[in-house]
Amino acid sequence: MEKSEVLLEVKDLKTYFYTDDGVVKAVDGMSYTIHKGEVLGLVGESGCGKSVSAMSILGLIDVPGKIVGGEIIFKGENLVGKTPEQLRKIRGAEISMIFQEPMSALNPVFTIGDQIMEAILIHQDVSEEEAKNKTIELLGLVGIPEPERRFNQYPHELSGGMRQRVMIAMAMSCNPDLLISDEATTALDVTIQAQILELMKDLQKRTGMAVLFITHDLALVAEMANSVYVAYTGKIVESGDVVSIFRRPRHPYTYGLLSSIPNLVSEKTKTPLPAIEGMVPNPYHMPLGCHFNPRCPFATERCRKEMPELAEIENNHFVRCFHPVLVNESEVVS
Ligand SMILES: Nc1ncnc2c1ncn2[C@@H]1O[C@H](COP(=O)(O)OP(=O)(O)O)[C@@H](O)[C@H]1O
Ligand SMILES: [Mg+2]
Repeated sequence: MEKSEVLLEVKDLKTYFYTDDGVVKAVDGMSYTIHKGEVLGLVGESGCGKSVSAMSILGLIDVPGKIVGGEIIFKGENLVGKTPEQLRKIRGAEISMIFQEPMSALNPVFTIGDQIMEAILIHQDVSEEEAKNKTIELLGLVGIPEPERRFNQYPHELSGGMRQRVMIAMAMSCNPDLLISDEATTALDVTIQAQILELMKDLQKRTGMAVLFITHDLALVAEMANSVYVAYTGKIVESGDVVSIFRRPRHPYTYGLLSSIPNLVSEKTKTPLPAIEGMVPNPYHMPLGCHFNPRCPFATERCRKEMPELAEIENNHFVRCFHPVLVNESEVVS
C-alpha cells in the first residue's frame, strides 16, 4: 500500500512517573508513525504503556508523571512543550479519544444530547439550533435508533453499547483527523463489541480520519488495523504491516500473543507456538537485558545482559530481538 502523508510521529517518547517507590518508565523510548487515513494498532498486555503513550499525545500526563524525552509531531508541530491551553484546543478540534468506560467520561446529570451539543458549541462557531441538529445527525450516524427521543435521555438510561456509541458521536463531533480508541470495546460483550468495531471501521472509511487503535487483543488488531506495533514494558518490540505481523511474526512475545488467539494459526504450521508464561515484570524491578527474557523460551546469556535494538528484519518489519523466530509461514485462517 502506498503510504499517504504523515499525520502523527511519536519519536523516542519517554514518559516517566516519579513515585515514592521509585521511577516507573511507563513509556521508554517508543516511536510510531501514523499516516493520514491509516489505522495503527498498538497492542500489548496490560501495563505495557499503551494508555500512557496515548495520554502523552493528548497532553494529559499529570504529576507524578512527566514527558522526559522525545517528540510528538502532529501535522508538523511538536506537541511536547505546548501550553495546556494550546493542547486543549487540539484535543477538542483535531484529536479525539474514546475510552473503555464511557460512564466516567459522561456527566450523569446532563442528557446525552446536551453533552454532545455542548462539545459542539465549545469548539464550533454554530447556533444552538444548528448544534442540536448536528447532535441528532451524529446520534443517527453512530447507529442510535430514534435519535430525537434519545437526545433527552440520561447516560444511565442507556446500555453500555449505546453509551459507547454516544462517546463515539461526541468524539466525531469535531471531525477529528485522529481518533484514539483506547480499549474502547473491552468492557462490552462480544456481539456488541463487534458492532462497535464495525461502526468505527465504517466511520473511519467514510471520513478518512486516522485511528490509533489501542487494545490488548491482537485478534481485534487483525480486523481493524493497517499497521501493527507491539508494545512491551514501554518499548516497541515488533512492528510492521498487518499481513507481515500475522503471517511472519518474529518476536517471541508477538508469537505468544498470537498463540492465545484460537484458530488463528494454520494447521500447516507444525511447530507449536509457545504460549506466554508468567507476567509483565514489576515496573520498579525491570529485568536486566531484554525485558522479555524471563518469559522467553529462546532466551540466551546475551538476552539476560543486553537490551536488543529495534532492527529492520525485512522491508518495513522491525523486531527487537537477538533470536527472532521464524516458523514455517503461518497464515491467518480466522
Ligand atoms: N499515575 C501513575 N503513577 C505511577 N505509575 C503509573 C501511573 N499511570 C500509569 N503507571 C504505570 O505505567 C505503566 C504503563 O501503564 P499503562 O500505559 O496504563 O499500561 P497499558 O495501557 O498498556 O495497560 C504501568 O506500569 C503503570 O502501572
Ligand atoms: Mg491501558
